[in-house]
Amino acid sequence: MIQVKDQIYHLGLRDWEIRSFHGHELSTFHGSSYNSYLIKDEKTVLVDVVWTPHSKEFISILENEVGIDNIDFIIINHSEPDHSGALAEIMERRPDIPIYCSVKGVETIRKQFHKDWNFRAVKTGDTINIGMYELVFVDMTMIHWPDSMMTFVKGPNVLLSNDAFGQHLAGASIFEDELDQCMVWHEAIKYYANILTPFAPLIRKKIDEILAMNLPIEMIAPSHGAIWRKEPLRIVEKYVQWSDNYNEGYVTIVYDTMYNATKKMAGAIARGLESRGIKSKQFNISATDMNELMTELFKAKGIIIGSCTVNNGPLRNIAAILAEIKGHKLKNKVGAAFGSYGWSGEAHKKIHKELEEAGIKVVIEPISVKYQPDGGELEACFNFGREFADHLK
Ligand code: FEO
Repeated sequence: MIQVKDQIYHLGLRDWEIRSFHGHELSTFHGSSYNSYLIKDEKTVLVDVVWTPHSKEFISILENEVGIDNIDFIIINHSEPDHSGALAEIMERRPDIPIYCSVKGVETIRKQFHKDWNFRAVKTGDTINIGMYELVFVDMTMIHWPDSMMTFVKGPNVLLSNDAFGQHLAGASIFEDELDQCMVWHEAIKYYANILTPFAPLIRKKIDEILAMNLPIEMIAPSHGAIWRKEPLRIVEKYVQWSDNYNEGYVTIVYDTMYNATKKMAGAIARGLESRGIKSKQFNISATDMNELMTELFKAKGIIIGSCTVNNGPLRNIAAILAEIKGHKLKNKVGAAFGSYGWSGEAHKKIHKELEEAGIKVVIEPISVKYQPDGGELEACFNFGREFADHLK
């Protein structure tokens, strides 16, 4: 148990081994953590627990550090199993213990565990006095589940933010200011890009609501990754930026290729962009982690996607990233499509159409090459890059 601030302790587990989250949907190259917190005031309060496979280890720590019988109540800020899984074992030992959560949280916890425990539903602005400190609840509906909420501990002024402001990493320290900054910030934006992007309009609204509550936030302690101890509003300011049509000005070129024809086109397009002063990155999708790629698409101002044609469409990984782009509702991005083909040649046209359907502003007609590009066709790709660059300025 590590002291976070005053009578608040980190009781969670760092998962050094985990390499994918949400099944196999999200890569976690730096591991993750399930940050459960214990508040030891006149009342002893447990805030969030850990994922089911870690229940036994967590219960053992909990028993040694505080004793399950000594917990007065539990707060579940969010019922996804990575924060609620260990409830089953705790409630087997203490079926009477009150569980504070949102109204939606009552519904989802019931549906996940099929138990009718001692629920106490709370909403934004509700408070509980626990001795020296007061707990203030803040609704976070759809950031990122209907039941999500935060708990502010008034006194030490720590915001227990659950998923918001988190990162999937296990670090030598639980505090951000003691960790490799590149790792923390990369994992923070990767987390945002892959989990929170679809909810961008809500995020800005919620942050405004939280700031309007004038909570004197001195620390932000999420339920994954590092705690923001030093100038904690830095991560809030980043969320404001990220939720507001964010880009870093460059172009992300994504392609898949069978005999390098589409890859050669990507290279010529990049040279065309460069000749007009636009920086770009190229990713062969089949050699790239999908979540790292999604982060690169989130950071890009321009998105150019290419594939050769197989079975009247793009290669399967390109089809998958197009679905991701649509699902993530990326805003204010400019796009284009390209690709090689042998006979029918549908891939580049389908990519163009799907980018439009995903809300990407597709600014030029797709470019295609039959079999391998010759010098003139590579020059056409170069000019395609130049023309695309002009739409970014
Ligand atoms: Fe970390 Fe939405 O669970």
